Amino acid sequence: MLPNKCGLGEIMSNDIDWDSLTFSLTPTDTMYLTETKQDEAWMPGDLRPYGNMSISPAAGVLNYGQGLFEGMKAYRTANDRVVFFRPEENARRMQRGADRLKMPPVPESVFIDAVEQVVAANLKWIPPMGKGALYVRPLLMGSGPVLGVSPAPSYTFLVYVTPVGPYFKGGVTAIDLLISEEYHRAAPGGSGGVKAIGNYAPGMMPSKKAKAAGYSEVIYLDAETHSCIEEVGAANFFCLKDGILYTPELTGTILPGITRDSIIKLARKNGMEVIETKVTAEFAMSADEAFCCGTAAVISPIGSITKGENKTVYGNGIPGEITTALYDQLTGIQSETSPDTFGWLHEVPTN
Ligand code: PLP
Ligand code: COI
Repeated sequence: MLPNKCGLGEIMSNDIDWDSLTFSLTPTDTMYLTETKQDEAWMPGDLRPYGNMSISPAAGVLNYGQGLFEGMKAYRTANDRVVFFRPEENARRMQRGADRLKMPPVPESVFIDAVEQVVAANLKWIPPMGKGALYVRPLLMGSGPVLGVSPAPSYTFLVYVTPVGPYFKGGVTAIDLLISEEYHRAAPGGSGGVKAIGNYAPGMMPSKKAKAAGYSEVIYLDAETHSCIEEVGAANFFCLKDGILYTPELTGTILPGITRDSIIKLARKNGMEVIETKVTAEFAMSADEAFCCGTAAVISPIGSITKGENKTVYGNGIPGEITTALYDQLTGIQSETSPDTFGWLHEVPTN
């Protein structure tokens, strides 16, 4: 089979059917890794073949979950470039998470250099424009051995990449969500506001249960009053009522999503009123449109929300007008089919 040429002059992988991409792992060629000790500076790391690593059985990350991850995407654009979307925000969020989990924060310059290097080394795995993106997964973990519950003596920062398509089954169609009345994602004073790896495993059982019952994901309510929407699995929540956009305010238990922040800025630039506030399930279920958002989820329209015996269907299950407009604007910027008026794109040097 002849290799596909992409506009950037390099070869694109032939092993992938770009039209069937889902949000799943395809091993790529190259990853990045660097290590440091507690209280020592991070030094730039190096590229190496993607593959298994050896780690101490007593590693802090394995025993006590001392680890963080990030999620970013590299896109091919209409201008024949490869770009990141606001990568500095991912670097800063990981630094805030490192403070919370008592790990040495990776300097922004090391973080950006790492993600640029890995993407440049895996160009052939970046899907053609409009078919998906190269998902970039930075990980920071306590890799040194420790027995008592305390910070590990040494740390690893690594970055791997994988081509991805839509996060939810069925692509960009409206999803059906179930409000979890039994489980919570985060509690005040906990780690819900950072991307701690330990935040995610407890969501797997509720999520699987909801999927088995025919829903795409669960919506979590706040752990104090059990009445306000916090997040949709691993994505932020928005709803539109009487022309005003509402999203749960950042109280420390919600992850400050970069997509969330971008949508707020885009909507305000469009002249819309956006209110960050407590959004009760009751209010959300009386809204005109709803969607969730994130790097993986992009903007996913919500077709229905179920809470116990009650079910709200939005717009007959068809994505709402404002939801669709925001989706088009966000993805237009990311693919450079619309101007990047906010200066959000960061070009990846590819030679
Ligand atoms: N909420 C949670 C819990 C997440 O894991 C993510 C994904 O990163 C998001 C929200 C969305 O954040 P972002 O838009 O920065 O990807
Ligand atoms: C992301 O949107 O990048 C996430 O991290 C969500 C998920 C895949 C955990």
